[in-house]
Amino acid sequence: MNTIGMLTSGGDAPGMNAAIRAIARTAIFNGIRVMGIRSGYDGLINGNIYEMNVSSVADIIQRGGTMLGSARSEEFKTKKGQEKGFNILKDFGIDGLVVLGGDGSFKGAEKLSNMGIKTIGIPCTIDNDMGYTDFTIGFYTAVETASDAISKLRDTSSSHGRANIVEVMGRHCGDIALFSGVASGAESIIIPEKELDIEMITNKIKRGRKRGKLHHIIVLAEGVGKPYEIKEQIKEITGVDTKVTILGHIQRGGSPCPYDRLLATEMGSKAVKLLIEGRSNLALGTVGGKIVSVSIEEAVSKERVLNEELYEISGEISI
Ligand code: ADP
Ligand code: F6P
Repeated sequence: MNTIGMLTSGGDAPGMNAAIRAIARTAIFNGIRVMGIRSGYDGLINGNIYEMNVSSVADIIQRGGTMLGSARSEEFKTKKGQEKGFNILKDFGIDGLVVLGGDGSFKGAEKLSNMGIKTIGIPCTIDNDMGYTDFTIGFYTAVETASDAISKLRDTSSSHGRANIVEVMGRHCGDIALFSGVASGAESIIIPEKELDIEMITNKIKRGRKRGKLHHIIVLAEGVGKPYEIKEQIKEITGVDTKVTILGHIQRGGSPCPYDRLLATEMGSKAVKLLIEGRSNLALGTVGGKIVSVSIEEAVSKERVLNEELYEISGEISI
């Protein structure tokens, strides 16, 4: 292993920078040249690549976003685009590649691996939608951001005796909604993994009002959507003034929490060590607090299972 390249792809996630830093520093520590590929697979195809040194990754562990930039590339989904990427890697003498991203990015990594590039994937997405790992880098920071926003809404909700629907991200996965909902004491959590029960929500609001409760927070996963329809239904059934807040991309930014920085540092270091050992086509994950690796094929095919216990708890404590 002489030269390692790395790229960040898909939606950015807090902690990507901490992983970039760990990859660069571990490679340099081991006498390996390290190259940063800008703007994901798009930058790869276009040869947007530069050599990094120890200082290139200074002062980034605490920063959100990705210093390499991220992009989505339709061209790389084609065989021709992948061949272009492969040839560029060869031209730059890159014999090992670390891909930081979600399952789409991993599918791209698998293609390059099948073409003979030694490739390791690091799971970076706020969605936590990958079934082979307990957590993805960026998830806990997004949960912290969402929980903080929900707590602020709760203050004003109580002052005005309103109900608030807060839509959070997660694509098809309800984890951000479930974890931030529980962490902020939400009364109702609506996720795509469970059927929407509007009667249960409105009954809770009515019961709450009867015992003098002033606020009612409903955390809604974007995978369910329809926040304004749900708002109208709640207003019609309960008569309670209901507001909608869509948190949006704010959840993707901000300084990564220590857990995400640690996960990123451990995985970044491990990715380089696996490449040095000559390993390839692996995705890193965390299971029961330990760093694990599975084939990229397994990583992209394993469906995420909902934390049923946490969902049940959320229902029990928000009676
Ligand atoms: P994420 O990695 O966050 O899931 P996307 O699904 O948008 O994000 O994927 C990021 C990029 O990965 C895409 O823009 C594309 O370049 C590449 N990609 C996704 N799916 C494939 C695929 N099946 N084959 C090759 N490349 C892919
Ligand atoms: O995958 C991360 C994510 O933020 C999802 O939660 C969301 O559905 C999507 O990306 C938004 O993508 P974009 O940044 O292209 O609007």
